[in-house]
Amino acid sequence: MKAAICKGYGSAAEVLRIEERVKPKPRGDELLVSVKASAVTAADCRIRSLNVPAGFSLPMRLALGFSKLRNPVLGLDFSGVVEAVGEKVLGFETGDEVLGSTGIRMGCHAEFVSVRASGAVLRKPSGLSFESAAVFPFGFLTALSFLRDQAKLREGQSVLVYGASGAVGTAAVQLAKAFGARVTGACSGGNAELVRSLGADTVIDYRIQEMSSMEGSYDVVFDTVGKLGFANGIRLTKEEGTFLLAVAGLPDFFRILKSKLGRGPRISAGMAGEKKGDLEYLLGLLADGALRPVIDRSFALSEIVEAHEFAESGRKRGNVALRIN
Ligand SMILES: NC(=O)c1ccc[n+]([C@@H]2O[C@H](COP(=O)([O-])OP(=O)(O)OC[C@H]3O[C@@H](n4cnc5c(N)ncnc54)[C@H](OP(=O)(O)O)[C@@H]3O)[C@@H](O)[C@H]2O)c1
Repeated sequence: MKAAICKGYGSAAEVLRIEERVKPKPRGDELLVSVKASAVTAADCRIRSLNVPAGFSLPMRLALGFSKLRNPVLGLDFSGVVEAVGEKVLGFETGDEVLGSTGIRMGCHAEFVSVRASGAVLRKPSGLSFESAAVFPFGFLTALSFLRDQAKLREGQSVLVYGASGAVGTAAVQLAKAFGARVTGACSGGNAELVRSLGADTVIDYRIQEMSSMEGSYDVVFDTVGKLGFANGIRLTKEEGTFLLAVAGLPDFFRILKSKLGRGPRISAGMAGEKKGDLEYLLGLLADGALRPVIDRSFALSEIVEAHEFAESGRKRGNVALRIN
């Protein structure tokens, strides 16, 4: 099978190659999925380049491989068709159209991937294209983990989503609306219409409105891109509110600990996971029409280098899809 192989840590052009790999075989609880589409996410780019928040480079090398990835196939999310099932699999059969996430086990930038049937894999809604299905998990699972689990966002509360036009931001705006919150999205002016169309009640152009002089007080401030600035985030969060950091380095974790002991807003960060139940919940909201995945551009597997370069440009609107089979 063809797969995008990451030969080491570095720039996309230096380390990514399309090569032939042995097609995986599904074991006991596994499905072999013929991958139709995947996503090229901020996580893929961070893992490939080791451009990670302060203090995380060494832990990442220890977890994923010291001088190169132990599993050289990137790609956390997939959509496709079940080609074979392991002998212990219940609830799926050959020919099922599915979507899901392998998380940090990765392996989705390939023509086939083996995934645990008990993991984050579900039947794809028939009205959802393979590309939309593939980009769905990343932003929405992240936004769910931060807004519901960390901030306990409730109906009627106010939220500032900073970086509202990215993969996590477009998901956070929609999810916060689905929870009944009043949403302010901050993005550059060219993306204001997109963010409004996703349900934001107010949109701020951060290039015109300096965040350091912005006024307001939100129950939840979600910095989805790590560029709001710590002091701005704290100032804009209510005393009893929560400041969420999608991007946090080691110094931030000391601040988080300190915030637990003292007065003022709670600060929260962490790694979003991929749970089957969460994906199921999100697909329910999608079926109700409350969520829609946003795709900026889509690339063929053979264009993996270009796809990474675009995904890490810092300017993408929503998600980057990768067409595979
Ligand atoms: N903790 C976790 O579990 C977790 C999970 C997923 C992602 N993340 C992290 O979250 C971050 C965001 O991921 P993503 O996929 O949403 O990124 P992304 O899609 O690449 O973000 C692109 C967006 O960033 C916005 N942006 C760029 N510079 C900005 C600035 N100075 N101020 C405000 N917005 C700016 C751009 O908006 P404009 O063009 O409108 O300015 C663009 O739409 C990544 O660093 C990723 O590693 C963490």
